[in-house]
Amino acid sequence: MTDLRVVGGELVPPAPRERRHLLSIADLDRDDVDRLLATAASFALSQARETKKLPTLRGRFVLNVFYENSTRTSSSFDLAAKRLSADTMTVKASGSSVEKGESLRDTAQTLGAYGPDVIVIRHPEAGAAEFVARVTDAHVVNAGDGKHQHPTQALLDLYTMKEALGRLEGLHVAIVGDVLHSRVARSNVLLLSTLGARVTLVAPPTLLPVGVEAWPAATSFDLDGVLATSDVVMMLRVQRERMSASLPEGARDLGNQFVPSAREYARRYGLDARRMAMLDGDAIVMHPGPMNRGMEIAAEVADDPKRSTIVEQVTNGVSVRMAVLYLLLGGAE
Ligand code: CP
Repeated sequence: MTDLRVVGGELVPPAPRERRHLLSIADLDRDDVDRLLATAASFALSQARETKKLPTLRGRFVLNVFYENSTRTSSSFDLAAKRLSADTMTVKASGSSVEKGESLRDTAQTLGAYGPDVIVIRHPEAGAAEFVARVTDAHVVNAGDGKHQHPTQALLDLYTMKEALGRLEGLHVAIVGDVLHSRVARSNVLLLSTLGARVTLVAPPTLLPVGVEAWPAATSFDLDGVLATSDVVMMLRVQRERMSASLPEGARDLGNQFVPSAREYARRYGLDARRMAMLDGDAIVMHPGPMNRGMEIAAEVADDPKRSTIVEQVTNGVSVRMAVLYLLLGGAE
């Protein structure tokens, strides 16, 4: 199999073998995930103390490069690095020379010239993080590349499920909504199935990707029929910004190719109080954020003190990203 591919109009050079990155959930085996969760749990204890900063990565440099908007991922990587005493810098494409047309290769190599130990990158194109891993000397963490992967989101989701429910093996996880455009769904399906959970994707046919039959997950068009047996209901954001981008060339954006209307979508696939009442026992409701309140999730569900773990997901994101940075940069060393 050839190792040569083209991303962003550039030929991707072969990957150096010795370096470690987190580009996809597929990079992790079960032992890696167990080590990561255990490390995150010990960092979570340190985050509950009055003095939260640890000297662990003093002298190291974590560079965040964001080509797409972000609140949670960008801020929690920055905070995670700071809590480990690393130097941090965040560069956003907006306002940078990317807007003058500078290529991903030139931007990565320019910022790479500052000698970052880790580059955390978010980019709208699948494969961008892998590309940066090949053209710089840094460890690279994928903070979301197009519809492809968002590995640290899946890890923090997993951590949150384990914290809330005490186990992962045998859980039934319903992932609901815009699966087609979701890197969160792709990373979660892979991770959850590896860890022994059962996943059902619930979406209208227009929001399921071609080839979904090959994913390690069941599919359903009937949210009401799936809720009673779900331990976890993970609602996905309807990604309007990717909908016009994924139209065939020349097609006009009529705004309703994927969903008839926000109201109709909420009626069929939104999680409201009536549907939340169908959940069993300790079942939890998750959402990676940002939310379209009133569309995929009703406010009373998002804010439900018993079922919703949305705030915990954000809190856990810091400990999980501390663990990722720590383990990438040598762990026990
Ligand atoms: N979940 C997530 O990736 O959120 P942000 O886009 O705010 O980083």
